[in-house]
Amino acid sequence: MSVGLRTPICDTLGIRHPIFGFSHSVDVCVAIAQAGGFPVLGLAREMPHEIPPLLADIAERMGQMPYGIDLMLPSGVPQAASLEALRTSLPPAHVAFTEGLRQRFDVQPARKPSFFTTQVRSEALFEQQIEAVLASNCRGVATAIGLRADLIERAHARGKVTFSLVGSVRHARKALDAGVQVLVAQGYDAGGHTGPVGTMSLLPQILAVAGEAPVLAAGGIATGAQILGSIAMGAQGAWLGTLWLAARENHTPPALMQRLIAASSEDTVITRAHSGKPCRVVRSDWIDAWDAPDAPAPLGMPLQQVLTGDVFAAMHEHDDARLIYEAAGQSVFGIDRETTVADQFTVLLADLDSARKRLERLAV
Ligand SMILES: Cc1cc2nc3c(=O)[nH]c(=O)nc-3n(C[C@H](O)[C@H](O)[C@H](O)COP(=O)(O)O)c2cc1C
Repeated sequence: MSVGLRTPICDTLGIRHPIFGFSHSVDVCVAIAQAGGFPVLGLAREMPHEIPPLLADIAERMGQMPYGIDLMLPSGVPQAASLEALRTSLPPAHVAFTEGLRQRFDVQPARKPSFFTTQVRSEALFEQQIEAVLASNCRGVATAIGLRADLIERAHARGKVTFSLVGSVRHARKALDAGVQVLVAQGYDAGGHTGPVGTMSLLPQILAVAGEAPVLAAGGIATGAQILGSIAMGAQGAWLGTLWLAARENHTPPALMQRLIAASSEDTVITRAHSGKPCRVVRSDWIDAWDAPDAPAPLGMPLQQVLTGDVFAAMHEHDDARLIYEAAGQSVFGIDRETTVADQFTVLLADLDSARKRLERLAV
């Protein structure tokens, strides 16, 4: 008997399982595609010059396997901006607080240049990213936080399937008005930027306005039973992000891996200290320091990352066991060891199957 189940979107996209995997790692994406899911590569952390070779690499390694690319396009960022210029405009009290933390935790500077030490989110940067993605052979284009009607149109003109991560009915309506084809109902439980409504409450509300558009469930999902439950509610699949951080293919720094393994759902918190917008992360001393009574309110996007991006890069480069954190959802309960994507698919599909059998036994 075959394990798992298929929904119409599996045929639309040419995938075996209705499991969608967001990741910043090409290695994870390739493994998700090989396991029969639909991988979506996030570009929000890439330096502009890295994007063309990265897209060439994923296109080559995917061959005929379908995949998507995700862009984070918040509105209200500067037209064009240099990190140096913005650094001089930071409020002195915030600079002093961050400097104090840097000294208290003895943060050594990052040596390797990265997005967080060299870039600032701006319209000019987004336009470069959009051009590169549209020119690529990706099957799907996903957007989070900001929605650009012209990007949706241009993606459709290239035959791409469009996805939008939505955290509220209002966002869903806006996405549908812009012509987005697939809604990802991403609840409060999710790792990364998130709204205030939990997945279990959000999903039926998004389904109610989606009409014929397929809806995927995201946020807090780490088991096959949850995937089956989402499909039973009307979703055509589940979109997972946190779980893949436990895969060897992600090259997660060892101290972060240990933190994720040790963490329970309560160890993830929504903070503005990472990017300036509410973002669920796994707690660390750095995140706690920004939550302490003496901490200033975080700045907005993109200034909070102008202020703290180099510390984020440093804690990752140096694998700092006290400070290191990452976006992570309440689904972190599903991480109990380092594993591989192939193993994760085996476990998810076996659990989905036993949930299905349990349902047949229990429901009369
Ligand atoms: C480390 C990490 C980084 C993320 N970055 C992005 C991003 O750049 N763009 C995006 O659309 N979603 C991003 N997300 C959110 C995922 O797309 C997804 O909605 C979320 O992980 C689902 O909830 P889960 O983490 O409980 O599985 C990120 C999630 C994680 C864990």
